[in-house]
Amino acid sequence: MKGVVLAGGLGTRLGALTRITNKHLLPVYDRPMVYYPIQTLVDAGIREILLVTGGNNAGDFLRLLGNGEDFGLKHLDYTYQRGEGGIADALSLAEHFAGGERIIVILGDNILERSIGAYVERFAAQREGARVLLKEVEDPWRFGVAELKEERVIRIHEKPKDPPSPYAVAGVYMYDTEVFDMIRALRPSTRGEMEITDVNNLYIDRGRMHHDVLEGWWTDAGHPESLFRATALVRQKTRAGRGDAIGAEPAQVQ
Ligand code: G1P
Repeated sequence: MKGVVLAGGLGTRLGALTRITNKHLLPVYDRPMVYYPIQTLVDAGIREILLVTGGNNAGDFLRLLGNGEDFGLKHLDYTYQRGEGGIADALSLAEHFAGGERIIVILGDNILERSIGAYVERFAAQREGARVLLKEVEDPWRFGVAELKEERVIRIHEKPKDPPSPYAVAGVYMYDTEVFDMIRALRPSTRGEMEITDVNNLYIDRGRMHHDVLEGWWTDAGHPESLFRATALVRQKTRAGRGDAIGAEPAQVQ
C-alpha cells in the first residue's frame, strides 16, 4: 500500500496567511501543517509516500521535508501540480507513483487524533473498490456529506446547502487501481475543479464503495476557524501525551 499527500491549492480561504506561502506550511501548534497527514500515513505503516504540491512554494517542501528523515523514512517522492485543477486532478498525478498498487490518499490540511491503521487494514482485506471515512459534525455543509440508506452510502453531496446527514466525508480516501481511469472520465464541476466527490460517487454507482465511521476527533485546517481549532486540538493532545499538568500555561516571557 502506498500513500499520497495532496498539498497543493491556493488556500485562498486563509486570506493574507497564504499570500506568500503554501497553506500546508503554516504552523499547527509546534509543527508545519503537512507534518500531521504524513505522520498519519507513517503511523498506519505506509513507507512509500508521494507529496503532490504546486504554486510558488513547491521548493519549500523539499527544503522542509527532505527525504522524510523526521518521520523515519529513507525517501519521499514529490510531484508538481500545475494550475488549480482540484483534488482529483492532483491525484491523477500519482498514477505513475502508484505503479498498479492501491493507494491511501490524505488531504494535506486534514488532521486526525488517532491512527487510521484499522481502517487501512479493512481496506486491504477488500477485494476491490474504495473506502472513505465518515465523521459526524455540527457543520456538515462545509464538507462532502454522505447520504446514507440502511448503513450504506448511496451518494456524497459536495458542500450541500441542505445536508442529507451529519456525516462529513473526511479527507482520507482509499482507492484501488481503477481510480485513475475514473478520474479520466470526470468533467470539471461548476467551480471549475475536478472533484474528489465525483470520483467517490463513481465508486458508489458501481457498488464498490465502503466506509467506516471515524473514532476520535478529525479536523481540517483550511479556514481561519478550523486552523485555530486544529491548533487547539493538537496542543491538547500533545500536552496530554507529554503529561503536562492540565490548565498549566506555557512559561511567560519575562
Ligand atoms: C475537500 C473535499 C470535501 C471533504 C473535505 C475534507 O473539501 O472536497 O468533500 O469533506 O475536503 O476536508 P475542501 O476543503 O478542499 O473544499
